[in-house]
Amino acid sequence: MQIAQTIHFPAPPARQLATLRSALAQCRPGHALPRAFYTDPDLFAVDMHHFVTAHWHCVGHTSMLPAAGDFFTAELAGESFILVRGEDGQVRALLNVCRHRGARLCDQAQGHAAQGRFVCPYHAWTYDSAGLLQAARLSEPGFRAEDFPLKQARVHVEEGMIFITLAREPLGLAHVQEAFAVSARVYGWRDAKVAARKTYQIQANWKLVEENYQECYHCGPAHQEYSKRHTYARSGAQREAADAAMRARDDALGIGLRDTDFYFRKAQAGQESADSIRSALVDGVVSGSRDGQGLAPLMGDFKGRGYDGGFSFIDVGPTSNFVAYPDHTLLYRTIPQSVDRTAFELIWLVDGAAREGVDYQVDALTWLWDQTSQEDRHIIETNQRGVNSVFFEPGPYNPMEIYARQYGEWYLEAMHGALPNNPL
Ligand code: FES
Ligand SMILES: [Fe+2]
Repeated sequence: MQIAQTIHFPAPPARQLATLRSALAQCRPGHALPRAFYTDPDLFAVDMHHFVTAHWHCVGHTSMLPAAGDFFTAELAGESFILVRGEDGQVRALLNVCRHRGARLCDQAQGHAAQGRFVCPYHAWTYDSAGLLQAARLSEPGFRAEDFPLKQARVHVEEGMIFITLAREPLGLAHVQEAFAVSARVYGWRDAKVAARKTYQIQANWKLVEENYQECYHCGPAHQEYSKRHTYARSGAQREAADAAMRARDDALGIGLRDTDFYFRKAQAGQESADSIRSALVDGVVSGSRDGQGLAPLMGDFKGRGYDGGFSFIDVGPTSNFVAYPDHTLLYRTIPQSVDRTAFELIWLVDGAAREGVDYQVDALTWLWDQTSQEDRHIIETNQRGVNSVFFEPGPYNPMEIYARQYGEWYLEAMHGALPNNPL
């Protein structure tokens, strides 16, 4: 893909680095992060420059761009991008900032660019779907339109999922490809379509959102409906026996699924992290539904074979999480907005041939994770309000919070790496 002009961020200024140094000095191994990481705008800026922009982020699915000129907008690290399919079939991520005087080019969440053009609402500079400037009204002689293409983020599509990165030197995707090959491909994401999207605004720092996602210690008290259906909310022998039975059912159905763990600190240097974990549903439950029954036609390799009583968590980088059942998948995107404001978007995917109202009902499909997400919003905002206290002292992680702990350690390692002259 031709990159007209990619984006990179400057190093953080000295004041932000001083704030980071002092926050890192307060960290205690095995404990939650100190308050400043959730409350200090300087550290939010460092997060964006040194962590979020270094990684790949899933922004949507190719079915959201069926034809040339189709687009949707997505936010990343406080920036807006237009994801658009070009005349050549390529998906691009155009920075949503006009090259004239910087107006936001496109305010629509999704749509179709008439004649494949984006016209700036301010002075009508006009760009094509590859981001090239086609026309600048009343320009002086000698004006070179080719010098003003829209900036772009790099794009990679894997199993139909669209990833973008703002990194100057993007992380490799070998772990992502391996994790997807052995855990995502069976779910048939390439042939999926979006059935529903919902965005949740959360008054909390983005790391509280991700740390919450990474642990199920809270599931028992916070998510009664989820816990009734997923053994992941339980611990110990009960869960292991259920997982073993699920794996036996997979073998009997001929579904080849494997867990992978290239996440957090296990990723090789220079590679984006990815993992996948299988987990059993409670006996008699086959999908994330109200009645435990199927919600939509089976997808991918499950077609014609049946449900296996399991589901998968698949994670990529710091903000892209997927929850896959045999009949639907959720893309769960964390979108940092400011130090105390985060959005997360849920995108529900079903088989591309499934008909809304006939093969699936949107309300039924979205019920469990909408409920779970509203509960999460409440507990995450409650967490932020407590963490805001100057008397907050980070407590120890519980063994059930192992992934949240590892996520925090992974993040801190990157923060140490942001310090000048640090050998890490
Ligand atoms: S700011 Fe876009 S045309 Fe002037
Ligand atoms: Fe939760």
